[in-house]
Amino acid sequence: MEEENLPRHIGFIMDGNGRWAKKRAMPRNFGHKQGAAVFKKTVNWCRELGVRAATFYAFSTENWKRPADEVKGIMNLLRKYIKDIRAMAKEDVRFIFIGDLTKLDEDIQVELTDIMETTKQNTGFITGVALNYGGRAEIANAARLLAEKCVSGELEPGDITEEAFERELYTSKFPPLDLVIRPSGEQRLSNFLIWQAAYAEFVFMDVLWPDFKKKDLESAIEEYAHRSRRFGGV
Ligand code: FPP
Repeated sequence: MEEENLPRHIGFIMDGNGRWAKKRAMPRNFGHKQGAAVFKKTVNWCRELGVRAATFYAFSTENWKRPADEVKGIMNLLRKYIKDIRAMAKEDVRFIFIGDLTKLDEDIQVELTDIMETTKQNTGFITGVALNYGGRAEIANAARLLAEKCVSGELEPGDITEEAFERELYTSKFPPLDLVIRPSGEQRLSNFLIWQAAYAEFVFMDVLWPDFKKKDLESAIEEYAHRSRRFGGV
């Protein structure tokens, strides 16, 4: 596929893990475990296909409302994947964890901060993982940072442009978000990358995330390539 027809950055809403597990009469965390394995494979598929960055919605600011054992299961899965993430980082992958990480357990925060720091120079691919992430919270946080810069005299209110705002978002180092893929049949953004998705294309799919395959990614990219993006023009 021509590079200009390829999305530069894809957002994945990893939905349907619970239903996938339920269909097998297994606990919800069994679905998350399979979902995490698909996350890892999807990073490789994106890279093989020439996409430059992918961000995965792993845990939202609202997900704390889930039963404690499910939250614990997802956090333990993350702990387990830190080793895999470090191995992936060796393949020139930069990792950026987006969201308010300060609410995560201390040991996880230390690991994630270290991974972000040590992969800063990697340019082969950017993997974003959204953890305790909410799009509205991200925008409020950016506004707060800009306000602080105004108070300190570093900025004037008149300097607050869209570009200045984007520099304060968690995604300032990512290429533009071109495509959002949501499996599992739900058709909404659920507070995921709401600023960044202003002109993104959406592909909703019926497959549950744990069943997501390379062919599903290819078909979403194919659909993206056929859409005509006008960005408000004609
Ligand atoms: C949504 O499906 C999924 C989540 C809230 C959690 C996703 C997390 C992972 C796949 C693990 C992340 C780990 C790493 C290493 C990135 P759901 O539970 O809402 O499914 P349902 O709609 O069928 O109930």
